[in-house]
Amino acid sequence: MTDTRRASIILGITGGVAAYKAAELARLWLKAGYAVQAVMTEAATHFVGAATLQALTGRPVLTGLWGSTLTPTLSREGERGQTLGPNRLDGMDHIHASREADLIVVAPASADFMAKLAQGRADDLLSTLCLARACPLMLAPAMNREMWGNPATQRNLAQLIEDGVRIVGPDSGEQACGETGLGRMSEPQAIFDAAQSFLYNGTLAGKKVLITAGPTYEPIDPVRGITNLSSGKMGYALAAAAREAGAEVTLISGPTALATPAGVARIDVTTAGEMYDAVMEKVAGQDVFISVAAVADYRPAETGAQKIKKDERPLTLNLIPNKDILASVAALPQAPFCVGFAAETEKLLEHAEAKRKKKRLPMLVANLAQHALGADEAELIMLDDKGSHPLPAADKLSQARRIVSRLAQFLN
Ligand SMILES: Cc1cc2nc3c(=O)[nH]c(=O)nc-3n(C[C@H](O)[C@H](O)[C@H](O)COP(=O)(O)O)c2cc1C
Repeated sequence: MTDTRRASIILGITGGVAAYKAAELARLWLKAGYAVQAVMTEAATHFVGAATLQALTGRPVLTGLWGSTLTPTLSREGERGQTLGPNRLDGMDHIHASREADLIVVAPASADFMAKLAQGRADDLLSTLCLARACPLMLAPAMNREMWGNPATQRNLAQLIEDGVRIVGPDSGEQACGETGLGRMSEPQAIFDAAQSFLYNGTLAGKKVLITAGPTYEPIDPVRGITNLSSGKMGYALAAAAREAGAEVTLISGPTALATPAGVARIDVTTAGEMYDAVMEKVAGQDVFISVAAVADYRPAETGAQKIKKDERPLTLNLIPNKDILASVAALPQAPFCVGFAAETEKLLEHAEAKRKKKRLPMLVANLAQHALGADEAELIMLDDKGSHPLPAADKLSQARRIVSRLAQFLN
């Protein structure tokens, strides 16, 4: 998937105790800006209320094959009140809904439902929708450990994997029936992450991406320095998203307490000068350079060898400008595709577009500094030659995936 429209997920829910966790899963997708259509089997409705899912997703829950939605009285006006699909009255929900979905995820998937799918049966809306689908299908099985270990379930599992169905979990642990073993549904966050990497996998395959992240630290003396409030979260999220999309990622990081995303090569630096040198050493052969680091514009002209002692007189620091890393990379004869970040405290669009033009960047992501620095969420605007594209507030990894998605469109 390479566009930035709201991706659509069909969340299938079958009859198991873990059905209550489907509400949390729906919430994660909604928070990340996805449209979610819940489809429940009749058995599922004994475990979790359709009203909960309708209230969360803002769409009537689909259930029966014969045109029934659950809790239609909760329906709201506009998009949030519509079911996924053109909402025609032709009784073809199973076709319309699956045509608009980017992915179907069944969580929990019961032993019964897996058996049904493995045989290609279609005797309720969810199984019919899975059979009629034109998009990938992912299952998160959840059942008692003996049910999971039963040769019949394992046969069905093998068949489903052979048919190209993605399986997430199950996990091992304490079960609703009081037993302990393999069969617990994976946690909603793990299912969400698996779906994300599945949706975005491969869009940057074969590409080399260089990213800077975090603050820099310019020493004044051995114990003091000039730095800023950048946490590095956005840059690290971009490194994770680019890696997830199949890129070979090198992350040049200022001082942060963050863990290196899996599969990413990290180089630690402290000052803007060190970051400049590291970038220039690594930039050759890169397809993309994403400059997220909050690089100090100035550094002290001199760094004291010893701690500066306090006295009553005013102290003046002489600051000299640092080299502009992004502009230097963008000006290289064989420059990679450059993406800049602009954190502004006022006139966001105006200042950001001026920066993009001045540095001749094909793409720039703007945010309001006072809201973004250090926070887990960000509200962003992507600027490129085709105009501005707002990214409503979401967690930084979700935003990073959207930026990577847009980037992939340019590169491919
Ligand atoms: C209290 C209770 C809990 C159940 N939990 C599970 C479960 O966790 N996993 C499972 O595969 N089946 C479970 N079942 C059995 C399914 O609900 C049953 O097989 C049902 O027919 C599944 O229908 P569906 O696949 O159409 O949703 C449970 C049944 C009951 C009564």
